[in-house]
Amino acid sequence: MRTNAVFFARPLCDIDKQSLRVHFLQLDAADRHLRFGSTLNDSAVLHYVDGIDFERDEVYAISDDAQNILGVVHIAVTGREAELGLSVLAATRAQGIGNALFERAVMRLRNRCVREVLVRCLHQNAAMMHLAKKYGMKIEQDGTDREARLALPAATSGTYMLEWLQDRQANYIGKLQNQTRFGQSMLAAFPAGRADS
Ligand SMILES: CC(C)(COP(=O)(O)OP(=O)(O)OC[C@H]1O[C@@H](n2cnc3c(N)ncnc32)[C@H](O)[C@@H]1OP(=O)(O)O)[C@@H](O)C(=O)NCCC(=O)NCCS
Repeated sequence: MRTNAVFFARPLCDIDKQSLRVHFLQLDAADRHLRFGSTLNDSAVLHYVDGIDFERDEVYAISDDAQNILGVVHIAVTGREAELGLSVLAATRAQGIGNALFERAVMRLRNRCVREVLVRCLHQNAAMMHLAKKYGMKIEQDGTDREARLALPAATSGTYMLEWLQDRQANYIGKLQNQTRFGQSMLAAFPAGRADS
């Protein structure tokens, strides 16, 4: 059920690859088919993660308090075009994570002067087709596949400022989550009953 939660996507880098592996391996066969266009087995999923080039592409994730990745958007950039791949864990869908990742990716691309973004999806992918239409993407049919394209407006001082603020917020939340986990582990190691012993 959709909540009023606000999600902040943080940019990932090479050290996050293990968390990405864990995320993608949790997608079942049907989800892998929707996400990748074919039902990748585990070793193909791991190969995909190993191949992500953080110098060229960008990856944003939304995580829970324990830093498990709930949803991720991979932005593959080629010149002034980009392609998005989105995935959200089944248990955390319909809460706004997909929307938040899509909007974060579009903001990043505008600020990188990318002028068009593409999402490939299968015709039966009702949730992705809904998102594509909602954001005004132009949908082209290619057999059973759909290509949804969105022309991106130029960046403005407002988009640069908003992105800067969102990154700071995501960074702040990440630090808070780390400190909370550290505090909880210390409390577990030194339970109140042992404070005087
Ligand atoms: C597509 C996907 C990323 C959406 O993630 P999500 O976190 O559930 O997305 P959100 O909760 O932000 O929003 C989903 C929207 O689709 C709508 N939706 C969900 N299922 C739907 C369906 N079967 N038919 C029509 N609309 C649907 C929701 O009502 C919501 O609408 P809203 O934005 O107007 O409120 C997720 O379903 C997923 O990971 N699917 C498997 C991988 C995949 O298909 N990737 C896309 C191809 S790259």
